[in-house]
Amino acid sequence: MTTSSNLLFVSSSLFNGQSKSREIAGEYISGWRRANPSGRVIERALSPENIPHLSGATLAALGKAADARTDDEAKAVAFADSLIEEAEAADTIVLAAPMYNFAIPTTLKAWIDHIARAGRTFRYTAQGPEGLLKGKKVVVVVSRGGFYTTGNAAAASMNHQEPYLRTVLAFLGLTDVTFIEVEGQAIGPDVAAKGLEAARAAALSLVALPVAA
Ligand SMILES: Cc1cc2nc3c(=O)[nH]c(=O)nc-3n(C[C@H](O)[C@H](O)[C@H](O)COP(=O)(O)O)c2cc1C
Repeated sequence: MTTSSNLLFVSSSLFNGQSKSREIAGEYISGWRRANPSGRVIERALSPENIPHLSGATLAALGKAADARTDDEAKAVAFADSLIEEAEAADTIVLAAPMYNFAIPTTLKAWIDHIARAGRTFRYTAQGPEGLLKGKKVVVVVSRGGFYTTGNAAAASMNHQEPYLRTVLAFLGLTDVTFIEVEGQAIGPDVAAKGLEAARAAALSLVALPVAA
């Protein structure tokens, strides 16, 4: 079944090779490829080397007419524009987001800071803010060393990863969001393996697999 044709994959682990969030996102994407054989996958593997913080200089450049920008300003605007264009062009967006210090990696925050642009991906109306990245499916794989979803209120209150992502994605108009949780990755090998397998099953159940002939 072909449901969509353009998938943007944004990963943000510092451990690309051994990343659990990336591995489980990869499971989902493999299934998506089987269901969308002619679909296109664009990957943004974020790292501190390839995405800067949103700077005051870039914000100032965004406020200038194109022909008034210096070369550096034009480059910074082109980079931010390219991130927005990738998000706009996608039917499906997959985010792989480790928990770092109870929140998301700073690289992923920088990506969000670059794509959240008034007048382009959201706007303010008389009724309040309106997200403009509409009609897309989002799958977010969140990985964690510990457990935050076991019903323990104290642990849940420390989770600033998933609630933040839900808030900012909804603000941008992304409301069809499914989270896959990979928990317990720092507790020990058995617990980690169990957490990974549960997440793998959740990822595979999300994709519509072709029926065997
Ligand atoms: C810098 C850093 C900070 C972390 N902070 C937390 C944390 O606050 N809570 C937690 O449960 N795990 C924390 N962890 C563990 C990671 O969330 C866990 O290893 C997860 O699997 C990382 O995702 P990845 O495998 O995709 O890289 C941290 C790991 C690193 C490297």
